[in-house]
Amino acid sequence: MESKILWSTYTFMLLVLCSCAAAYDALDPNGNITIKWDVISWTPDGYVAVVTMNNFQMYRPIMSPGWTLGWTWAKYEVIWAMMGAQATNQGDCSMFKGNIPHSCEKKPEIVDLLPNTPYNQQIANCCKGGVLASMGKDPSAALSAFQIAVGSAGTTNRTVQLPKNFTLLAPGGGYTCGPAKIIRPTLFITADGRRTTSAMMTWRVICTYSQFLASPSPTCCVSLSSFHNGSITPCPSCSCGCRNSSNCVMKTPSGKGVNVPKAVLRCTKHMCPINVHWHVQSNFKNHWSVKVTITNFNYRFNYTQWTLVVQHPNLNNATQVSSFSYMPNLSTNDTALFYGRRSYNDVLMQAGAKGNVHSDLTLEKDGKTIALKKGWAFPRRVYFNGNLCVMPSPKSYPYLPNSAGNK
Ligand SMILES: *[C@@H]1O[C@H](CO)[C@@H](O)[C@H](O)[C@H]1NC(C)=O
Ligand SMILES: *[C@@H]1O[C@H](CO)[C@@H](O)[C@H](O)[C@H]1NC(C)=O
Ligand SMILES: *[C@@H]1O[C@H](CO)[C@@H](O)[C@H](O)[C@H]1NC(C)=O
Ligand SMILES: *[C@@H]1O[C@H](CO)[C@@H](O)[C@H](O)[C@H]1NC(C)=O
Ligand SMILES: *[C@@H]1O[C@H](CO)[C@@H](O)[C@H](O)[C@H]1NC(C)=O
Ligand SMILES: *[C@@H]1O[C@H](CO)[C@@H](O)[C@H](O)[C@H]1NC(C)=O
Ligand SMILES: *[C@@H]1O[C@H](CO)[C@@H](O)[C@H](O)[C@H]1NC(C)=O
Ligand SMILES: *[C@@H]1O[C@H](CO)[C@@H](O)[C@H](O)[C@H]1NC(C)=O
Ligand SMILES: *[C@@H]1O[C@H](CO)[C@@H](O)[C@H](O)[C@H]1NC(C)=O
Repeated sequence: MESKILWSTYTFMLLVLCSCAAAYDALDPNGNITIKWDVISWTPDGYVAVVTMNNFQMYRPIMSPGWTLGWTWAKYEVIWAMMGAQATNQGDCSMFKGNIPHSCEKKPEIVDLLPNTPYNQQIANCCKGGVLASMGKDPSAALSAFQIAVGSAGTTNRTVQLPKNFTLLAPGGGYTCGPAKIIRPTLFITADGRRTTSAMMTWRVICTYSQFLASPSPTCCVSLSSFHNGSITPCPSCSCGCRNSSNCVMKTPSGKGVNVPKAVLRCTKHMCPINVHWHVQSNFKNHWSVKVTITNFNYRFNYTQWTLVVQHPNLNNATQVSSFSYMPNLSTNDTALFYGRRSYNDVLMQAGAKGNVHSDLTLEKDGKTIALKKGWAFPRRVYFNGNLCVMPSPKSYPYLPNSAGNK
């Protein structure tokens, strides 16, 4: 028994270590966040640039309260002004008389503005409160932009110095950014396609995500049940950590200020903030159905723009999906992406009565090749917001009858 536990811990560690070393996601091999600086004009003491951040990850959003982008200036650059975003600190601008820069920090940290920002402080694609949808969910909401006027800087493409040590903070963390690299200047084509202009100079930074960096322990687990068998296979105990006297609460934390308890997770045996429950509802000759429920156990976090990825051989062709949006064939034909519908259930609310979202799926099956044998009806892998969820051991799956057609 003990050796079995040791062995599974070992395999788990191995898996985690592998994903850490490579930071490679087989389902989304090109997933990254690309930050591009387009210098649109040179000024007497620097330049004006439009910075765009594209989330090229298929199923990993940046949730509210949004991104914070930081870097270190190469020399003594300052930010004169910004549109569509702001530096969190002005820093020490005492050297300046008259015109005072927006920020004199050596390592500025930039945050997005909120959607209700006055129009004269906005630029296109700004002001989303730092929330970026994933590419698979909504490409038009997967980018953010702001404009920055930099002073005390180089004023030609030979004298300008690229900012260094970029950092991208997002709720949950996990991003590391590479160095800025000069690329071919971006071409801008007007909406009517009749005029093309070019950036004076362009550089880009690529940031990648590592689940291990975000959290060495998992953040999500899967439980299973089936119409035919009354028992529920729960998430494995301690899937995301073990419960102790101080790391969880039994009900909604109340109180303000100093009285607010530190723990924000509801106490469960699995201690995961997210549980995905897969319930097989029915099984007929040519189709079967599943109810998927995602439950939030965190009393202090709303998951905006959440995504769910499920790997199951029959998911290439779901004929009906209620409440969720559905995208089959994500990168392989057995993997589907699910996400909430705009202003209906695209925010998974904090723990409590509203802290769950669910969907009924109807799946076609080929009666000849597919029977609901033990385990077949359950997903192979599940990812919530791009993080792999812990599955129960196949030995504990609810038993399903081999014969199809009996409800
Ligand atoms: C970043 O993502 C883009 C878009 O998917 C892709 O073209 C590019 O190769 C990726 N870069 C890296 C270093 O992964
Ligand atoms: C950038 O980060 C590296 C490693 O963390 C550090 O050695 C270097 O001093 C930093 N550079 C600046 C300009 O802060
Ligand atoms: C710098 O500008 C010159 C002319 O303005 C151009 O020929 C050259 O390609 C530019 N270099 C870079 C790295 O953009
Ligand atoms: C409880 O668990 C948390 C992490 O889950 C740990 O940081 C903390 O030290 C533990 N407290 C006790 C009293 O064991
Ligand atoms: C989650 O969203 C609800 C409704 O918008 C809001 O009342 C609540 O304060 C939010 N919770 C957190 C932790 O932001
Ligand atoms: C998914 O892929 C399969 C085979 O690769 C194809 O038959 C099916 O039509 C695709 N489904 C959709 C909705 O594109
Ligand atoms: C997908 O489902 C449709 C509708 O039932 C069916 O006509 C089609 O043959 C199915 N395709 C595959 C690849 O299973
Ligand atoms: C899914 O793809 C695999 C290999 O890419 C192929 O062998 C299989 O037939 C496909 N399944 C469907 C239902 O198209
Ligand atoms: C339900 O599934 C459990 C777990 O596999 C099994 O122990 C039990 O015998 C099953 N019950 C029935 C009625 O099939």
